[in-house]
Amino acid sequence: MSALVIVGTQWGDEGKGKITNFYASRANMVVRFQGGANAGHTVSVAGKKLVFHLLPSGVSVPNVQCIIGPGVVLDPLALVEEIGYVRSNGIDVGDNLLIDVGAHLVMPYHKAVEAAEEQARGGDAIGTTHRGIGPTYVDRCSREGLTCGDLASFDRFEEKLSGIVSRKNDILTKLYGAEPVDLDEITEQMRAVAKVLVPHLSDTPGLIRSAITSGDNVLFEGAQGALLDIGFGTYPFVTSSNTTAAGVSPGTGVPPTWIGEVIGVAKAYATRVGAGPFPTEAEAEPAALICERGAEFGATTGRPRRCGWLDIVALRYSLALSGIQRLIITKLDVLDSLPRIPVCVGYTLDGTSIDTFPRDVDTLRRIQPVYEELPGWETDTSGARTSAELPEKALAYLKRIEELSGASVAVVSVGADSDAIVEFERLL
Ligand code: IMO
Ligand code: MG
Repeated sequence: MSALVIVGTQWGDEGKGKITNFYASRANMVVRFQGGANAGHTVSVAGKKLVFHLLPSGVSVPNVQCIIGPGVVLDPLALVEEIGYVRSNGIDVGDNLLIDVGAHLVMPYHKAVEAAEEQARGGDAIGTTHRGIGPTYVDRCSREGLTCGDLASFDRFEEKLSGIVSRKNDILTKLYGAEPVDLDEITEQMRAVAKVLVPHLSDTPGLIRSAITSGDNVLFEGAQGALLDIGFGTYPFVTSSNTTAAGVSPGTGVPPTWIGEVIGVAKAYATRVGAGPFPTEAEAEPAALICERGAEFGATTGRPRRCGWLDIVALRYSLALSGIQRLIITKLDVLDSLPRIPVCVGYTLDGTSIDTFPRDVDTLRRIQPVYEELPGWETDTSGARTSAELPEKALAYLKRIEELSGASVAVVSVGADSDAIVEFERLL
C-alpha cells in the first residue's frame, strides 16, 4: 500500500506543485484534499511554465488519475477556465480528471462577501487571495453550502441557489453597503459550467481507497503550508482549511491509519504572502535579492512575496504537526550568490530563550529570532543532478538543516525545470 502525502511546511509556495509533478510520473493517482484556487502551483511541462490552481499537479502526466477530493472548495468558473488553459497547452483533460460530488462550490457571492469582509477589516485585513475560500468553508460549516454534486440536478440547484442568494444579498447590501450579486447571471454561469463539469463528477473516496489497497501509488497533494493551517497556523492570518497531513482523511475519506509517509516541502529560505507575523523576514536588501532570484511573486495574485531566512523553530513545529521525517528542500539555487546565509535556530522572548513556536500571533510578533550564519557556497548549483555535483558548503548547509530539524533531507530542488532535482533518496 502506498499513500504518499506531500505538504508545505512554511507559509505556502514551497514548490509543492513542482515536487508533486515530479513524483506524478511514478504514481497512479494524484489527489487534492483541501484548499481551492487560492493555491498557485507552478509546474514546468516540456520546458513551459504552467500554473495550476485547482487541477492536481499530476494532470500533465499521461495515465495519472487526478482527483479533486471532497475537502476542496471548487470555484467552477475558475476550473472551467483552467481546463481551457491547460488544454490550450496540449494537456489532455478527460477521464483523467474526477471531481468529488461532495466538494463545495465557491460561488460569486463568496468572493463578494470576502471582498467586503477584507475591506471592513481595514488595517487588520488578512490579505487573502480573494478566491472566496474562507466564506465557502464558512457556508460548508453552517450548512448553507452548495456542492459539486448539486450541479447534476440543476432544477433543485436553482431552487437552493435562489434562497441562498437572497440571504447573501442581505448581508452584502445591509451589513456591508456593498453591491448585490445577480441571481440570473449566476444561474446562467452555473448552467454553463455544469455542462463541462458534471461529466467529471464522481463519488471518489471509494476509488481512492481501492487504489491504495490494490497497491497503486497514490499521492496526496497539499496546498498552502502548515503555518497557514486553520487550527495550528498563525491564526487569524491563516487560510480556512487543514493544511497539515491531518487534512487528508476528512478531505478524501481515506482512513488516517492508511496514510503512508508524509513528506514535507520547505524552501531553503522562507517567504510569506499576505499579512501576519513572519519572524525571520529579511531586511530590504537581501529580501529584494531573494525576491528577484527566486521570482517570488504570488502565482495566484501576482503580489510580491515577503522574503526571509529559514526558520528552524517554525520548521520543527510543522514537522511535528504532520509527522514528517523526510524533507524536500527547494530553491537551493536561489541562495547561490550569498557569501553568508543566516538560519534561525531559536527565538528569544523578553530576553529568555525559547525553542518552540508560539501559538498566538501577539507573542509571535514579540519574539526575536536568533541566527546562526552559515557560509554560502557562491557557486551555481542549478546544473547539479547528483550530490557529487553540489558544492561542499551547500551540502554542509543541508546537513545543518538536518541536524537542527531532526528530519533527513531526501531531495533538493535546484531550479524551476522539472529535472532540476537531486535525489539523495528515492521516495517513490
Ligand atoms: P500554495 O498552494 C501562499 C495565504 C494568503 C493569505 C492567507 C489567507 O500556492 O502554497 P485565503 O485566500 O486562503 O483565505 O488567504 O493565506 N495563502 C497562500 N500563501 N501560498 C498559497 O498557496 C496560499 N493560499 C493562501 O496570501 O495570507
Ligand atoms: Mg503557490
